[in-house]
Amino acid sequence: MAEKVTFSFGRNWRDFVTSFLNEDRISEAEKSLKGFTGLEKFNGLSFIDIGCGSGLFSLAAYKLGASKVMSFDLDPFSVRCCEYLKEKEGNPADWTISEGSILDESFINKIEKADIVYSWGVLHHTGNMWQAIRNAARFVKSGGLFFIAIYNRVEGPFGSKSWLELKRVYNRSSRIVKKLLEYSFISLIVLKMLLMLKNPVSEIKNYKKNRGMSFWTDIKDSLGGYPYEYASAGEVFRFCKQEFCFVLENSKTVNNLGLNEFLFRSPK
Ligand SMILES: C[S@@+](CC[C@H](N)C(=O)[O-])C[C@H]1O[C@@H](n2cnc3c(N)ncnc32)[C@H](O)[C@@H]1O
Repeated sequence: MAEKVTFSFGRNWRDFVTSFLNEDRISEAEKSLKGFTGLEKFNGLSFIDIGCGSGLFSLAAYKLGASKVMSFDLDPFSVRCCEYLKEKEGNPADWTISEGSILDESFINKIEKADIVYSWGVLHHTGNMWQAIRNAARFVKSGGLFFIAIYNRVEGPFGSKSWLELKRVYNRSSRIVKKLLEYSFISLIVLKMLLMLKNPVSEIKNYKKNRGMSFWTDIKDSLGGYPYEYASAGEVFRFCKQEFCFVLENSKTVNNLGLNEFLFRSPK
C-alpha cells in the first residue's frame, strides 16, 4: 500500500515566505552560500537550484551576481513562492523557474549545465535518493561545483529508522494530532536546550543564523517531509567520487539526525 503523504513542503514554504522572510534572512542565506563555497561573488557563474522550496537560495545566488539562475521544484506551492521572490526582485530575465522533478528524465533533459548546482535538503525527499543525486550531478559543468545536503544516517533505537516511522505517523495523523506531535517535538528541543544551559528564547530567535531559516518552519519540515532517505557522510562521499570522480572541497558533517553538507568539484 502506498504511504499517505499529507505534508506539503510548498505550503510550509508559503508560510515561511509570508510570515518570516525578511532582509536579515536573505543576507544570512547569502552568507551561507558564500561561506560554504568560499566565493565572495557569483559573478559570471550560472546557478541551478534543485528543489528550490521558498526560492530563498535562488534569490541569494541572484543577489550574489549569478549570471543565470534556474530554479525548479516538484511542489507547485514552492514554485509559486520562488516566482513571488523573483517578482519582488523585478522579474529578472536571467532567472527562470519551472515546476518539475529531478527524477523526470524528459524534464531534466531540457536543463542546461551550470557552474554551481545547489540542492540543499532535497534529494533524500524524492523517493529515489541515489538516482536523484546521479541526475543532479549531470547538471554540473566540468570544473563546476556541486553543493548538496543529505540527511545523516544514524543507527540505533532513536536513529534514522525511528525518525522515518515518526514521519509516517505524522503524515497519517489528523490536524490535531499533527499539532500535538509538533508541540511535543518543540518541548523536547526546549528541554534539551535547558539541560545544555542554553536560553531557548534566544536560541529560537537566533535560529535565523542557520541559513536564514525559521525554527517554526523547520519543525514542520522535519516532522512532515516525506519521502525520507538518509546516508552517512562516507556513503555520499564514496558515491560522488566513484560515480563522477568529484573531488570534495568542503564538508560540514553532523553526528545526529541533521544534514551533512558537501561541496564537490567536478573534474575539468
Ligand atoms: C526541505 S525542502 C528544501 C528547500 C530548499 N532547497 C532549501 O534549502 O530551503 C525540500 C524541497 O524539495 C522539493 N522536492 C521534493 N522532491 C522533489 C523532486 N523530485 N524534484 C524537485 N524538487 C523536489 C520539495 O517540494 C521541497 O520544496
